Amino acid sequence: MSNYICVGGQWGDEGKGRIVDILSEKSDIVVRYQGGNNAGHTLVVDGVRTVLHLIPSGILHKHIVCVIAPGVVIDPEVLLQEIDTLNARGVVTDPSRLLLSPTAHVIFPFHKKLDLAREKARGSEKIGTTGRGIGPAYEEKVGRRGIRLYELFDKKHLAQRIRDACVFVNTILNALDAETFSGHEIEEMIERYSQHAQRLKPFVCDIHGFLQRARTERKRILFEGAQGALLDVDHGTYPYVTSSNCVAGHAAAGSGDGFARHAKVVLVTKCYATRVGSGPFPTELHDDVGENLRQKGAEFGATTGRPRRCGWLDMKALKYACEIHGADLLAITKLDILAEMPTIKVCIGYEIDGVAVGHFPWNPEDLARVRPVYREFAGFGPLASNMNNRSDLPKEAQEYLSFIEDYCGVHIALVSTGPQRGAELSEF
Ligand code: IMO
Ligand code: MG
Repeated sequence: MSNYICVGGQWGDEGKGRIVDILSEKSDIVVRYQGGNNAGHTLVVDGVRTVLHLIPSGILHKHIVCVIAPGVVIDPEVLLQEIDTLNARGVVTDPSRLLLSPTAHVIFPFHKKLDLAREKARGSEKIGTTGRGIGPAYEEKVGRRGIRLYELFDKKHLAQRIRDACVFVNTILNALDAETFSGHEIEEMIERYSQHAQRLKPFVCDIHGFLQRARTERKRILFEGAQGALLDVDHGTYPYVTSSNCVAGHAAAGSGDGFARHAKVVLVTKCYATRVGSGPFPTELHDDVGENLRQKGAEFGATTGRPRRCGWLDMKALKYACEIHGADLLAITKLDILAEMPTIKVCIGYEIDGVAVGHFPWNPEDLARVRPVYREFAGFGPLASNMNNRSDLPKEAQEYLSFIEDYCGVHIALVSTGPQRGAELSEF
């Protein structure tokens, strides 16, 4: 029996939702433990596409109980909309299947406004955030001013908390030359959020107690990471990162289930690279090859619709990601997108001014300056539709995968060959 932590090995958008959906078959509980609705996890089942931003990707499996743990920041409006959409589609999303932590921090409209105002003020240095208020919500949490979910249930208390927060926020908005919140808007926000609270209250439970009981009952727990190693606030390409820890080690901290540290870490990576938002990206392609990857791979943000920047797989970055996550297994996604390319390149090292760089650069200035050293692989494909395992793949594709495995020193347990459930070669 295995518990898993499923995490991204790049700059997000690796296909984690798809892998969580597969691992859910072997799990009882799926836990989101960091990030918020900056995530966009896409699942395709029986030709129907579902994009989830907050609710764990296990929800499409009837037997799964989904948990949103204390480390997540919750936008109640997005969550309620997601609940309604799933219910309308016949995916039961009620308190028997979805549990919310009372201590998770809440995203308010002022966090979104701050997010956008800060980005505007940064001008050309903008992070390229999703604009969902994630950064400001985490800032308030760390600054010990944040409002937690359970505080929404006492209207008088909530009203005071929102009014106080807006005094603080308005000062910053003023300084940023952005529109502030009027008294009327603040009162309307209080009304709206206390209504949301009434709807969300039945979903709230003692997550710590629930997970500990699950442990004693030997339930299988799957931790679903959001974003990816290179977007981690401590270990990613700071400041072009998100505002939470995305590394697997954070599954224990963000969920409050310390035993998460014993779970097997499944690192998900595409077989090429993408990034959305600003920041260094050594293997980015600005030519037809990059455009081809974008079109063929449908590389447009699931959350914001922005075109993703595309490039070759970067082994230097991937190995670093394996190390900071402590990857036990690899899941490689989108192999079908590379099929029928004449040649495939992979970055196997970096140089700055002709000198090899030993480590993964820890500052964005150096990372922006590196020149990737490439190794070229023969193209392959098209891929057959009736494959059962890796040995059914074209020889050139097998060589490409073996190279990734050897470079990282981590076994590939799954290769996806299409977006829909079932299009994968899986050992799980
Ligand atoms: P999933 O879980 C891809 C990126 C944003 C931006 C930076 C900071 O679907 O892989 P934020 O709104 O978090 O403050 O933005 O992080 N980003 C993601 N990119 N996939 C995601 O999530 C992302 N979540 C945040 O584009 O560059
Ligand atoms: Mg995404």
